[in-house]
Amino acid sequence: MIFVAGSANLDFVVRAAHIPAPGETVLGRDFKTYPGGKGANQAVAAARAGAATTHMLLALGADAHAAVLEQSLQQAGVHCHIVRDMQQASGTAFICVSDDAENAITVAPGANQSLCAADLPALDGFSHLLLQLETPLASVAAYAQAARAQGVTVVLNAAPAQPLDAALLALVDVLIVNQGELTVVAQHQGSVADCLARIAVPCVVVTLGVQGCCARCNDDITLQSAFAVNSVDTTGAGDTFSGVLVAALSQGETLAQALRHASAAGALACTRAGAQTSIPTHAELMDFLASQPVTTAAQTQALQRYCGFAC
Ligand code: RIB
Repeated sequence: MIFVAGSANLDFVVRAAHIPAPGETVLGRDFKTYPGGKGANQAVAAARAGAATTHMLLALGADAHAAVLEQSLQQAGVHCHIVRDMQQASGTAFICVSDDAENAITVAPGANQSLCAADLPALDGFSHLLLQLETPLASVAAYAQAARAQGVTVVLNAAPAQPLDAALLALVDVLIVNQGELTVVAQHQGSVADCLARIAVPCVVVTLGVQGCCARCNDDITLQSAFAVNSVDTTGAGDTFSGVLVAALSQGETLAQALRHASAAGALACTRAGAQTSIPTHAELMDFLASQPVTTAAQTQALQRYCGFAC
């Protein structure tokens, strides 16, 4: 069983030809709202695509957005532990999605900021605690500490990126980052291999977009090439990856199997609009995996070279 503690945001999304540069105004096209937030997206991914029993601690305001966010989690089968903040609005995110499926996101955290150390229930029966960085860092550290004390595996998706102190990293068993986040956490601009060598966490997983992903667990490297899809919106793809990875690990899959499932789920999420609306079901994920060719040695070598690992 997985426990997710983190953010929930209502995403306000406009599509446009490109993401505006500083000072630029872009005339967009259609506007929609979607349930999002890195924590809630990961909880939905674990429950829906990962088919894992999933609980989530989140904070919501006393507004109409709260009901939308709660309903999406419940429909995915996530068991919610909700802190009600009567003073603040529920979290919101303002997202521009470009025609090449990239996005730029600004978050107004609102009620997410009110999650505090005392809100985490006892973690009896849970194998993994999944955290992100859209809630106060002091709470993230307190949750990691509580999980470690209870023998629960701590997984941190270090997004949005920020430098992390050694005391927090020492509480993390599995760190999940994208390439930009990797350089921030490693405080180094070198290759993926060089950055990985500088992070004192036993298992570090790096998502690399169209290149695929890799993991360094102690001294072992595992590589997974990307699945080719037609992307329309990459929002929530990383969250889908994180949720499914932890779901797979909690169900006893090997790291290689978990990376394969998480990569496929993340790829599928790119083919649909929105964050939680884009997360595939477990059946869709299994069908997709069954339709995919076996990874070739040439693909694996290309990824190895990209990361800077010796071939
Ligand atoms: O990772 C995507 C998410 O980031 C969006 O759903 C948005 O709410 C922000 O938290």
